[in-house]
Amino acid sequence: MSNALLELVNIEAGYGVFRVLHNVSFKVCEGEVVALVGPNGAGKTTALKTVMGLTSLFKGDIKFNGSKINNVPPYERVKQGIVLVPEGRGIFAPLTVLENLYVGAYNEEARRRLSESLEMVFSIFPKLKERKNQIAGTLSGGESQMLAIGRALMSRPRILLLDEPSLGLAPKIVSELFEIFKKLNEEWKTTLLLVEQHVKNSLEISHRAYVMESGRIVLEGESSEVLKDERLRKAYLII
Ligand SMILES: Nc1ncnc2c1ncn2[C@@H]1O[C@H](COP(=O)(O)OP(=O)(O)OP(=O)(O)O)[C@@H](O)[C@H]1O
Ligand SMILES: [Mg+2]
Repeated sequence: MSNALLELVNIEAGYGVFRVLHNVSFKVCEGEVVALVGPNGAGKTTALKTVMGLTSLFKGDIKFNGSKINNVPPYERVKQGIVLVPEGRGIFAPLTVLENLYVGAYNEEARRRLSESLEMVFSIFPKLKERKNQIAGTLSGGESQMLAIGRALMSRPRILLLDEPSLGLAPKIVSELFEIFKKLNEEWKTTLLLVEQHVKNSLEISHRAYVMESGRIVLEGESSEVLKDERLRKAYLII
């Protein structure tokens, strides 16, 4: 396997003086889909925020593309290509779908590749093309999520961090979304770090996975192997 694009080494991090993550290590290689799964309150969002530089970092190292980024401010990390689609989406409701996508292409490189990126986003999400002139605030839950991801893709991220993209969506839309993640990775070579509570779906489409509980990584490996783990199957009622 190739070298890590993103790597967290023995991370202790949290909020203020409160530690949430305990000795957390994980990596994502270029071209991989890595799933980070675990129950509510395990520290999954905190792990993503730590990658972005939005938590207190007490110990350990965060490396991106071979360099330590512990002290790199969040906006610089975004500039380097680390892009987070946060829980709850956060699209601009009064703007149209197309305007929202344009907003995503804010950096110079992204602006240069705007039409190519738009074509890519529309090929992955044909629904957004159909609805490009619709006001974003009137989209369905699934469509809003697609727009949030589409907007993030417009900035041409080197790694896309997705925080529970399927939250609150109907089962049919959830399966659709997971298929899209697979396609995004296979056809467009997008590197993904996927935080999810849909454990089975996540393990089925990812290459490797980490299971987090109470701020610690308790299980890790090839997703197909993790999926066979008896404790995991019991804990998440996978039959
Ligand atoms: N801003 C904050 N300040 C203080 N504590 C926080 C903050 N955000 C989260 N926490 C605490 O950190 C712990 C981990 O929360 P986190 O949001 O990372 O979990 P999670 O795995 O993403 O859960 P969920 O599946 O519910 O989204 C929880 O105990 C939570 O209460
Ligand atoms: Mg969370």
